[in-house]
This record gives sequence, structure tokens and C-alpha cells, in this order.
Amino acid sequence: MRMKTKIVINCALPYANNSLHIGHIAGAYLSGDIFNRYSRISGHEVMFICGSDEYGTPIAIKAEKEGRTPMEIATIYHQEHLETFRKLDIEFDYFGRTTDEVHQEFSEKFFMDLMEKGYLEKRMIIASYCAVDKRFLPDRYVNGTCPNCSSESARGDQCDECGRINEPQELINPRCAICGNPIDFRETDHIFFTASKLDSEIREWLQGKEEWRNNVRIFSLNMIKDGLKDRSMTRDMDWGVKVPMEGMEGKRIYVWFEALLGYISNSIKYSRIRGDENYWKEMYSSGNIYYFMGKDNIFFHSILLPAMNMASGKYPLPKMVTANEYLTYRGKKFSKSRGIGYTVNEILEHVDRDSIRYYVSSVLPESSDSDFTLEEMKEKVNSELNGKYGNLVNRVVTFAAGKGIVPKQGPMDDLDREVMEKMKQSLAQYREEMDRIEFRKALAIWLESVKAVNTYFNQSKPWDTIKTDRDATASRIWHSLKAIEYLTLMIYPFVPSGAIRAWKTVHGSEPNVKDEMFSHLGSDCDFHIKESGIIFSKIEIESEGSNQMHLVVGKIIEAEDHPNADSLLHFKVDLGTKVIDLVAGLKKYYSPEKILGRKIIVVENLKHSKIRGIESQGMLLAAQDSNGAHILTTDEKEGTEITLGNEAYDDSGTIAIDDLKEYDLRTDVSDGKTVPTGMLNRKRLILMANGKPVSVDGNVESRSQIR
Ligand code: 2FM
Ligand code: ZN
Repeated sequence: MRMKTKIVINCALPYANNSLHIGHIAGAYLSGDIFNRYSRISGHEVMFICGSDEYGTPIAIKAEKEGRTPMEIATIYHQEHLETFRKLDIEFDYFGRTTDEVHQEFSEKFFMDLMEKGYLEKRMIIASYCAVDKRFLPDRYVNGTCPNCSSESARGDQCDECGRINEPQELINPRCAICGNPIDFRETDHIFFTASKLDSEIREWLQGKEEWRNNVRIFSLNMIKDGLKDRSMTRDMDWGVKVPMEGMEGKRIYVWFEALLGYISNSIKYSRIRGDENYWKEMYSSGNIYYFMGKDNIFFHSILLPAMNMASGKYPLPKMVTANEYLTYRGKKFSKSRGIGYTVNEILEHVDRDSIRYYVSSVLPESSDSDFTLEEMKEKVNSELNGKYGNLVNRVVTFAAGKGIVPKQGPMDDLDREVMEKMKQSLAQYREEMDRIEFRKALAIWLESVKAVNTYFNQSKPWDTIKTDRDATASRIWHSLKAIEYLTLMIYPFVPSGAIRAWKTVHGSEPNVKDEMFSHLGSDCDFHIKESGIIFSKIEIESEGSNQMHLVVGKIIEAEDHPNADSLLHFKVDLGTKVIDLVAGLKKYYSPEKILGRKIIVVENLKHSKIRGIESQGMLLAAQDSNGAHILTTDEKEGTEITLGNEAYDDSGTIAIDDLKEYDLRTDVSDGKTVPTGMLNRKRLILMANGKPVSVDGNVESRSQIR
């Protein structure tokens, strides 16, 4: 007998400042939901809690850029996330908000507790200050030249070019990332969490966590190799939880400190909604607390939050901290702002929830990064989930219904015994993997079992036996359905909607997935088959096209009026490797003097054409709105390749003006800035130069066509 226990499951609270992409789902939420569903049908009592992380600088800055309040931004994305999770069958018991009063109160109280216990200390520090914006700046909002590699795009926290971890003071010529002006450094008071006092306790605790994956345990121990450091737990800003102390007006609690407390505050809120104030305490006292997150969140969950809870002495530490590595898209990290990969909503337009969950589960980056492709998703869903499992259920049910067979358990023959034995073994192995949070391995065991049941059904040939022995055939069908029941429960945590449809098809009624289900497998149940509807649908997506548009940065080194036309200009343009002639209809909007020396974006592989006697060897891109034309431009060097999102030019010949139209180039607003975009594989992507969005000259209306 397995022990029934109480389990608390938390997924990292997503920032409410952007859409969720498939990388987030693979990092934290799908795994959390799989464990939630598996734990429930194993008979445990589960409290599955998450919520929006609504404070912090990125949300405040985004709001500023978009001319909204941070609360408006947080609300928009909070609602979007709720909806996205619903559409993906990710079913939290409660999904709250850090702007909720309960959270504010709890965070303030927790903060004061640590203060009383002597774990918080006021210290004076020197911080970056922008006199123009009149604010202190977080390290990542300081730009400057890297002292190590001289890259001009280093930030106050890190240089992306060489990877050096920087202090803002070390940057050469430090500037404010918001307004671009030079910054200075000023003194300011902050409250520090004296985590160093807990150094040996945390270290010992981590050392004892041998059942954790190395990517969390060893990684965490490495992070505190040189000691657990004190950290400032307040920030100079006004979007956040107030610091409940005098003299700290204008400061807020550090967003990570309070967001981590969101697990408990949301549990408290949930308990109130259930009408049972103390429910969360009961659940937490079991100590079975599981955190799910992406690998960039490890430190906070394996070190900071445990240290905070140790310091408070009131709340239990997690039993398990699981972090997934990254799901990549063509080898790069998913990123909404850089246009890499897909948001969940983009995929949901083409693919149903079960298919997404199945495919992502099968490539969960549990031990190393793994890559997502639409082609592989189509292949796996169609041949495995649909072709092997869905098809098996359909075959058995259609056969039985077609022949009017009532499934009935009779004496087992060798084939039956073999398949039932196999199912029991597989289930045991599957549960071992599931208990260890090795979901990919568990899914592989399921797939192998599906194949075994297919083989069993084929070998038993009920279409032959029915001619001579109806009873034996009815028993065969019963055993086939029993085997399918195993497969259905095993796949349920991964693809709940489809599994429930399959269950209904063989039982005629819904399974009670809120309660223990596995013991049903040992029962001599009756099956009531319903004529099978569609359990899984095939994915029909075309494979992806590549970027055929060769765009490069050019610099105008000569400019004159076209000798034979009133509206045209003639340029010589330096493309880095060569100089070309180019004719453009810009004369109404740019004089030759005004445009000379500017950087432009040139379609380099367009078929050449003679325009009023001059051969134009390319075409420059400009956005057209009611005020006129605005060239696309950038600071990057001539010759720099322009990508569509992450998609580089595919190096295959020339294109015609009509081909260009398929990209539907236009301006759009992204992160509060107007940027040029184009369509590729049903996705709108930003035109990028060296990973930075290309800009549009002057103020241009959004949704203006680019030609
Ligand atoms: O990385 C993130 O999306 C963070 N918002 C995670 C916060 S987890 C915890 F603090 F709640
Ligand atoms: Zn550098």
C-alpha cells in the first residue's frame, strides 16, 4: 500500500509583463501540472498554487513606455496568463496576484518578523542615480562600455559580449538605459538580509538533499562556494510592496523577496476562499512542498527562500526543488521580445492542447536543453499519441461495437496473462519515474507499453476468433480494454483532456480524476463502450518556409536627384563588401543632403531593374504613412545582415517584388517602440540587426506598410 499524504505544489510565479511562450510552459508549468494530476490520481491531497508576479522594474518600465499604469499592465497579463493556463489544461487550485492585499500584508509581516529576529539590517550603499529621470537605477538599467572587452553595449549587471559580471561603477562612461544621459553615484540606505549568518545551515541542508537533481543541488552548492552573501532586500522605486519602516518612504521591498512569499500568501488567500482559514497550515505541515521552475530561478528557490524561511523559523523548507533546463527553438532560448520561438497562444491557433502537452512532455528539458520544432511535434503527435494510442482505442472499441460484443472477463490465456503482467510492470516503473519527477522517462515507458498492447491485440486476432468463439472474444476485448485503462491513466497527467475522452469511450462515463484512480486498475470492472468519437486529432501544419529575403545594412555615400525623374533619388550605397547603385522614390520626403551618410536597409537579392535609365541594384525599405515616407535605419555597421526575428537569410538566389509582398512588411508596436516587422511561417517577426530591432526614421504610425 502506498501512503496517502498531503502535497503542496508551487510553480514559479510568472512575471505579468509578457505573454507566456512554450519555453515557460516547458520550464515550469507543464511539469507542475503533470505532478499535480499524477499526485491526485495517486490518492494524495494536493494544493497546487501559483499566481502572477506583478511588481518589479520591468513591469514599471514597460508601463512607462506604453503610457499605462503598472497596475494596468499587470492586470492585462494576469488575465492573459489565467486564460493561457486554462487553454492548456494547467489547473491550479488558485492563481493569485502579488498586488493582492493579502500578499501585501503577509509580505510586510514577514519582513518585520525577520527584522525582529535580527536578520535585517540597515546599511548605506552607493547606487547609480540618473539626475534627468530623478531616480536610482537598477544595475541592469545602466549601460556603458565593458572594462573587460570594450563592448559598448555592456550593462551594469553583466556584459553579454564577454559574459563578465559587472558592477555599474566599473563601466566606462556609464549611462542611464532609460534616457541615455550620463549617470552619477549617490549614497542611499537599504535593508540587507544577513543571509551570511545562515551559511552553514543552508550548506548542510543542501548537502543532505541527495534525491535532488544535480542541476539544482550541485549548482546551488557551487553558487555559495565562496559563502552565502548578505543581499539588499529593498529597492529605490515606487512600484512594489512598501517597506514597513520609517525613513524608508520611496523604497520598496525587493521583488524577489516578496514574490517568493507569494506561495504562502496565495495559499492563505486560497484557504480563505475555501472557508477554512487554517487549511494551508495543515497542508504545509506535511513538509511535502515541491517547487517547479526554469533554471534561471534556481538560486531563489534553493537558497534565498529556504534561508528566509529558516530565518523566520515559521515555515517549512521545500522537500523538492526541481528546475528544468531551457527548451530552445532552433538552438536559441525562447524570447518574446527577440521574436524567438512561439507564444502559447500562437501555437494554440494551429495545434490543440493535448498535442502541445504531449510533444512538450516528450522533450521536457529535464536534464539538458532540448529543442522544439513544429515538424517534430507533428511527427510525434501523429505517429505516437494519435497513431499508436488513439488508434488502438478506436480499433478495439470500433471492433467490439461493430460486432455487438459485450466485453466480459473470462479465463485468461497466455497472451492475456502476458499483457496484464506487462502492464503491471510498466505501471510500477512508470510510477517510480513519476515519483522521482522524471516525466520524460515515465512517458517513454508509457509509449513502450502502448506498443506492447498493440502487438497483443494484433496477435490475438479477435476478428478470427469471433467466427468460432464469441465468449473467448468477449474476454479478449475485456482484457484489451483493461490494458487500455492502464495506458489511459498513465497518460492522463500528460494529456488530461484526451485521456478523459478515451476513458469515457470505454466506460461510458467520466473518471473521477480528483481522487485515487490507480486502484481501479485491479478491479473487475464492467466496460460500457460508446461508439468512439474522435479522441485525438492529427496535426495538419505545413512545414516551415525559410527566409528568402536578403536584407543588409547599407550606408549612403553619394546622393543626387535622379537626372531623368522628378520624384526619384539616385544613391551610391556601401554594403560593406561592395558599392551598389540604388534608385528610390523618396525625393518628396528626403533631400539628397539630408539623406547623405545615413544607414539604410537594402533588399540585396532583388532582381535588378532599370529605372529611367539607371540600373537599381537593390531596393531600400521605407515605411509609408499619412505623413510620408520614413526610411528603416540602424546604428549597426554597413554589411550587417538583417534577420526576421531569429531567422537569417537562407542564401538561395534572388526574389521578385511579388515574393517580397508575402512578408507583409509593416510597422508594429512592440514593448512600447515602433518597429518594422514581417511575416514568416504565420508569425509576425521583428526585423533585427545584431539582435536589436531595426528602427524607423521619425515618428511613424503603427501598421504602416513598408516598401
Ligand atoms: O522568472 C520569473 O518569471 C519570476 N517572476 C519568478 C518568480 S518565482 C517566485 F518568486 F514566486
Ligand atoms: Zn565585456
